[in-house]
Amino acid sequence: MPKVTIDGIEIEVPKGTTILQAARMIGPEVAPPTMCYYSKLKTSGGYCRTCIVKVTKGSAQNPNPMPKPVASCRTEVMDGMEVQNVTSPEILEARKGVVEFLLINHPLDCPVCDQAGECSLQDLGYEHGAAKTRYEFKRREFERIDIGKYVQLHMTRCILCYRCVKTAEQITDNRVHGVIHRGDAGEISTYIEKAIDNEFSGNVIDVCPVGALTDKTFRFKQRVWFTKPVEAHRKCTTKSATGQTCSGKVRLWYKGEDILRVTARKDQWGEVEEFICNDCRFEHKKTSDWTIEGPSPVNRHSVISQNHYNHLNELKVEVMKHQKALGFININKRP
Ligand code: SF4
Ligand code: SF4
Ligand code: FES
Repeated sequence: MPKVTIDGIEIEVPKGTTILQAARMIGPEVAPPTMCYYSKLKTSGGYCRTCIVKVTKGSAQNPNPMPKPVASCRTEVMDGMEVQNVTSPEILEARKGVVEFLLINHPLDCPVCDQAGECSLQDLGYEHGAAKTRYEFKRREFERIDIGKYVQLHMTRCILCYRCVKTAEQITDNRVHGVIHRGDAGEISTYIEKAIDNEFSGNVIDVCPVGALTDKTFRFKQRVWFTKPVEAHRKCTTKSATGQTCSGKVRLWYKGEDILRVTARKDQWGEVEEFICNDCRFEHKKTSDWTIEGPSPVNRHSVISQNHYNHLNELKVEVMKHQKALGFININKRP
């Protein structure tokens, strides 16, 4: 099995592992950000360049460095390879440039965008972006397009990552949209605004890293950080012609007693764990439709963790521990 060193940490990985996958095996501290790669979608990656890294040693056999940054999601590990991500100032500077390009045509929509608070581009801009834009030309503009009953496309926010195209291709019965034209004329389009209308089409909303594809049943209802995510499931037997089945395992987003939206569950990399069907996503918005499992785990650094009960419980346990260590009276045991 090849060994690779990323930011000074060595790991042994199965043959065929990419640098990105190896970095994720080490942990989030060295894993490069991704805007187009998606572990659940075949052939994804290679479009956005946010995952670039510096290969300072190609392999044990050929120790030469690679002459320019490489996309870690598309580059396989070689035995003896040495890679720099966060330890390379050059890469951090280059990534800043990538973010600048991604934002060239992007509108300043965050205050009104449904994706705000769970947007990979917002996070990327915050961590790697410049405070100002140098772009002086007119930005691309598009009308909003309704693609089907449930999904609305805001092309101005699209970063052409191809995730929605691959989702439609790989898990729905029939892909009816794609990227037409190239370069700065490229756009996501359906064939003459044909509706994306099949049982798994709602997944394009979850895989979109930005607010380009939005859930029409949730639009402008609430900022995500004011809602409470809860894990739930129901028995579902929906299956697509491609063999994709619905897991029936979802995340319900509550505001008070109301379920405002239903999404698939996402892992620590922000990627869908198991795809769900439109019936679960759009047609079951009553608590009685679901078996509730409990509060969703939320990363402490996410804006959604604001006032999240899981963390309040953790905090309470911490406070109690300190009280006990200091010999304070346990307030819960007071008469
Ligand atoms: S897609 Fe993300 S960065 Fe763009 S406007 Fe929406 S929240 Fe802001
Ligand atoms: S609409 Fe979203 S998922 Fe589709 S290419 Fe654009 S950014 Fe990617
Ligand atoms: S995540 Fe690797 S190029 Fe986009």
